[in-house]
This record gives sequence, C-alpha cells and structure tokens, in this order.
Amino acid sequence: MRSEPTDINSNLISPLRPHVMVLFGATGDLARRKLLPGLFHLAQAGLLPKCRIVGTSLDDLDDEGFRAYARAALDDFAHHGVADDEWDEFAAGLFYVCQSAGNEALAKIVLELEEELGGDVARLHYLSVPPAAAPEVVQRLGEVGLAERARIIMEKPFGTDLASSIELNEALHRTFDESQIFRIDHFLGKEAALNILAFRFANGLFEPIWNRQHIAHVQIDVPETLSIGHRIPFYEKTGAYRDMVVNHLFQVLAFMAMEPPTALEPRSIGEEKNKVFRSLSPIEPSQVVRGQYGGYLDEPGVRPHSETETFIALRCEIDNWRWAGVPFYLRTGKRMAEGARVISIAFREPPKSMFPLGSGVGAHGPDHLTFDLADASRLSLSFYGKRPGPGMRLDKQSLQFSLHETGRTTDLLEAYERLIYDAMSGDHTLFTSAEGVERLWEASKPLLENPPPVRPYSAGSWGPNAIHQLVAPDAWRLPFERAWRSR
Ligand code: BG6
Repeated sequence: MRSEPTDINSNLISPLRPHVMVLFGATGDLARRKLLPGLFHLAQAGLLPKCRIVGTSLDDLDDEGFRAYARAALDDFAHHGVADDEWDEFAAGLFYVCQSAGNEALAKIVLELEEELGGDVARLHYLSVPPAAAPEVVQRLGEVGLAERARIIMEKPFGTDLASSIELNEALHRTFDESQIFRIDHFLGKEAALNILAFRFANGLFEPIWNRQHIAHVQIDVPETLSIGHRIPFYEKTGAYRDMVVNHLFQVLAFMAMEPPTALEPRSIGEEKNKVFRSLSPIEPSQVVRGQYGGYLDEPGVRPHSETETFIALRCEIDNWRWAGVPFYLRTGKRMAEGARVISIAFREPPKSMFPLGSGVGAHGPDHLTFDLADASRLSLSFYGKRPGPGMRLDKQSLQFSLHETGRTTDLLEAYERLIYDAMSGDHTLFTSAEGVERLWEASKPLLENPPPVRPYSAGSWGPNAIHQLVAPDAWRLPFERAWRSR
C-alpha cells in the first residue's frame, strides 16, 4: 500500500509565515559569499516569505551602509543576476543594528518590524559568528526576549570534543529548546545529498544489495585544492578532522548508511541517522593518517611546530547488522591534487571468474556506484562489459547520469538557500541534533586523545603515502582512472 505523500518537498510549495530574520555576523565572509546572495535568490525564486532582515555585527554601519554592503555581495556572488526591481524590493527589507548599540536596540527594531509585518510573524536568528562568541549571543537573545517564538540557525563547530559539545548544548538549551535549534551542515543541503535518499528509498533496485553481503567497502572522499588562507586562526585550533569529518563527512556517511526511515519526515530520518552514529565504532588512531602540506608551517599565523592536520584519512566501521565488517574510508584535506566530493561504493567481486586470464576481468577494480556531490551532481554505475569484436575481452563501462539531464538546473537551490528555507519551514531533516553531535564526539575520543603524528605531504598531491597502506588491499578511487563523460 502506498503511504500518503509526506515528502520534504511539499514544504517547497506551502507558504511560509512572514519572518524577521536577524543575521549575526552580517558583514562576515559567509554572509557575503553565501547568506545574502542565498536570501536574495530565495526571494527571486518566490520562496522567501514576507521578510525583514536585520544585519548585526561589530562593524559600524547604518541601514544604507548595510544595503550597500549587501549589494556589493550580490554583485560578486549572486548566481542569477540582480534586476533593479528585485534589488529595490530586497533592499527595502534590509536593516542594520551595530552590536555596540546593544541587544535592547536589536530587540526594539525586531519588535517594530514584526509590528509592521503584522499577524503571525516568525523569528529566525542566524548565528554566523566565531564559535567562542555563540553562547554569549544566545544568552543575550534570551535576556532581551528574542528567543521567544524564535528559531536559531547555528554554524559549526558544535564543540571541539565531547565535553565542549555537551557544554555548548547545555548553554543553548538554557535559552532555546532543541526543537528551536537548527545546526547547519551545508553538505546535507546539497542537492546531491538529498538525492542519496531518493536513490536509495524511491527505487527497489539497490536497497536489497545495500549491505555487507554485496558491498565491499565505501569511500567518502572530499579532497580540496584550496589552502587555508585567511582562516588560519580558526583552522589552527580545528584541523581537518574537526572541520570536515565530524561535520560533513560523517553526516554524509549517515545518509549513505542509515536504515530506511519509517517516514520521510525529520524525526524518523533523525532517529535513523543517530542510530548510525551510535553504531559507529570508536575512531582508532592506528586507523588514521594525519597529514600537513609542505609550507603550512610558513603561513602567517601558524604556530611554530604546529601539529594541526590539514589532511586526514581514516578507516571506520559501522558495527551493526547491515554494515559489520565493511570498511568506510574517509579522506579530506587542503591543497590536494584535485577538488572533489565523492561517495564511492565498491561492490563485491563475483565469487568465481569463468573468464580467461588476461581477459581484463577485475583489472580495473570492482564495480562501483559513485555519487558526485558537486553542485552539478552526477551518478555513475560502473561494470565490466564485453569489448566488441572477437574473443572475450572485458572493459570497464559505466552508466552515468548527470543532474543537467533533468533539464531543471535553474530550479537548483544552493545548500545554504535550501537550509535557510527549511529552517523557516521548521523542517529539521537536514540539520544535526544535539544527540548526534555528542555521539560523534564520543566516538572521536580515542583519536582526539591520542592523535597519530602528522606526516608531511606535498601540496598538490593526494596526501601522505601512508594512505595506501591504510586501505590496502583496497585502493583509493580518486584520482579517477577514467574521467566522467561530458555531454
Ligand atoms: C566548510 C569547511 O565547512 O566546508 C571548509 O570549514 C571547507 O574548510 C568547506 O573548505 C567545503 O565546502 P564546499 O561546499 O565548498 O565543498
């Protein structure tokens, strides 16, 4: 029997309540590159409700100054152009309160704007502030009454270990109920991440083989070519594991590995994700390679002899009935050879081969199902097929699909756009819970307490050599032996 449609996308067409949104860190890098352009695109796409946006930060601006700042951000980063009439309407909804004016001033303008909007107005606070500042901002929101009727979007990191994440969650919960908190992980807002759910649960084809009997190993590989740049002060204290693995890579892993949720709704999906995290075996230092690219120590702001890793590769396991014994290999790093965001699922090879030696069977690794989580996402299923002509020679072939083929790429929402929209809708599906975050830090304990030494790797490489031993007898899928087909 078919269940009633309760899909996530139904939100995309239901009208949202008018909103007053407070953007903390409004003149920061994230606001400039993603949040202001994202809000503007939501407005262009007709997905932003009646909305007033109050920017706040340490910069001494007035409303006009903030509008000029936002306009410059859109000129640099808006993907869909900025038409005059669209801009005029958007700009009229932008306001600014300098943090030095105090929280009472902020509360005053929020109340005035709510009154002006009239009716049932929702509040959304977006905290794009350094982690150390977040608890205080939250406390102040409570003190001036701005936590009432409000939702709050928090940016990672959600602590740096178990103790600090518990402390942070306790601080948040003194002001906000868990149901009001939206911990953002922008990887889950990517179109391709949601497509994992569609692919797995909307089809009968793959779920029966989505387990230890048929899957030999899984790779979640997110190499980046960029360096740390101006983020050194943050990165020095953070490193690749805390910056990328605890958040993005484990979250993607949960979507890949979770059991079918009882319904496509936030609570069921959240429960299944948390079960994956509970089954995650502790991360063993012996199963981890930490790396640092050559030249990192010379970058301004890096401590002499810094042991911060700019690269990490690890092997972990999900100790449950579906996945016991299947290695999950995770890798990410800065200044690597290529930028990619790939989930690669290697299927077990046939138990016996009838093909003659030299036929090419198995010569290019196992069959793979590959998800490319790029914005223009792609999917590929590789298999051995017969090379045309006499005899039996086998070549690796693949079935490939690219998002472009849907002909709907103009409907794409960028990750932050989707997540802001979801938070306005009250939809927690793509956000992380306190329980999930704490469990991940708990599983990280052995590694954080006893990290292996950092090994050097050359900028522009795939990481230290030890990564090959880590996955042997398997092999890293990247760099791809054959490029994606381009149409
Ligand atoms: C951020 C990390 O969360 O994600 C960065 O802090 C990283 O270090 C970035 O570069 C990668 O995100 P994306 O969407 O550009 O792949």
